[in-house]
Amino acid sequence: MTNRQSGIRLAKRLDEVGFSDIVQVRNKVAELRAEGQQVHPMHMGEPYFETPDQIKYAAIKALAENQTHYAPSSGLLPLRQALAAKLAARNGIEASADEVLVTVGGMQGLYAAFQCVLDPGDDAMVFSPFWTPISDLVTGAQARPLLVPTITARRNGIRKTLEQFSTPKTRAIYYNTPQNPSGVVFTRAEAEEVAAFAIQRDLVVIADEAYEDLVYEGAHFSIASLPGMAERTITTYTFSKTHAMTGWRAGYAVAQEPFMTALRKIVLYSTNGVSTPVQYAMIEALKTPQAEIARRREEYRQRRDLLVAGLNEAGLECAPPAGAFYAFPNVEKVHKVSRTAAQILLEKAHIATIPGSVFGAQGEGHLRFGYAVSFREIEDCVAALRRLFA
Ligand SMILES: Cc1ncc(COP(=O)(O)O)c(C=O)c1O
Repeated sequence: MTNRQSGIRLAKRLDEVGFSDIVQVRNKVAELRAEGQQVHPMHMGEPYFETPDQIKYAAIKALAENQTHYAPSSGLLPLRQALAAKLAARNGIEASADEVLVTVGGMQGLYAAFQCVLDPGDDAMVFSPFWTPISDLVTGAQARPLLVPTITARRNGIRKTLEQFSTPKTRAIYYNTPQNPSGVVFTRAEAEEVAAFAIQRDLVVIADEAYEDLVYEGAHFSIASLPGMAERTITTYTFSKTHAMTGWRAGYAVAQEPFMTALRKIVLYSTNGVSTPVQYAMIEALKTPQAEIARRREEYRQRRDLLVAGLNEAGLECAPPAGAFYAFPNVEKVHKVSRTAAQILLEKAHIATIPGSVFGAQGEGHLRFGYAVSFREIEDCVAALRRLFA
């Protein structure tokens, strides 16, 4: 209990920052499993495979060789050089090693980006539905998220829609592609529209490319590679999804000055960098052949197709998502309110999902099903849906 009159109270900037709703689903799943029930775990956002052995051995080798001391807080130079080479080759982003910052997962890059761009009272445009923590990162910077419905924007024109939803206080656009939870992959033409708007209105773009390697239709395109955009874009990446390294907390950001100095300060004064052996593991992960990344993508594509077919067969209308590893079907057939629909699926079919409303008002009427699980788990989930609607 906090007493606003006493010194024992929280800083006001946390007043509107929420704690993950997804945790509540996880707790309920744990409860059911403790009772010995089988649960179909479609609520998760973890790769289906384990961290590859050569990456684990690189960390073990670093430990054995006593790479256990402070590294530069912004990251080891050979790692930042390898990241700059990857950004040039894969993303079309020309950056020096000094324009790359190693971060504790994608989350720290995003936290640092919002902190160093937004002032209290600013607005940040966020395509919605969006990955839930984003609105908390914006409110944590004492700014306000302006939700821009992605479907409307794609139908009526991205630039026109951004104009409609922007305010005089708009300072930044959060641009996530491929998107969590919808799987939307913005095209190059759409990136050009966002860029034109950002340049016209002198805005900063915070680009989140966590799922860059998981695109099944179309191609991933990095907005910072467009003319005039590198200087106004902070792009964040993670090793979590591509390399199955969620627990290692490994990510990076790329930006020019004045942002890079600000981002570095935030990393320095929060974590003072990423664990040194983890950085050696990151160097190894970057050596993964593109053919291996493509092979995994095919594995995800097969999982997607299996799940999407099962959802449609059950009458939960779902177009195949172009990227990431989530399906986001319309579930109004189960219940119009997505929280209730999630509860019904969990209680009656033991299928754990995330209610769409958690991802913003535009997610209502939908549930997020993660398909980064085994084929068997997807088949079991589809069979449970079939039984539910039989
Ligand atoms: C859209 C999006 N961005 C960023 C992240 C950050 O991931 P991490 O902090 O594990 O690197 C996630 C993780 O789920 C995500 O879904």
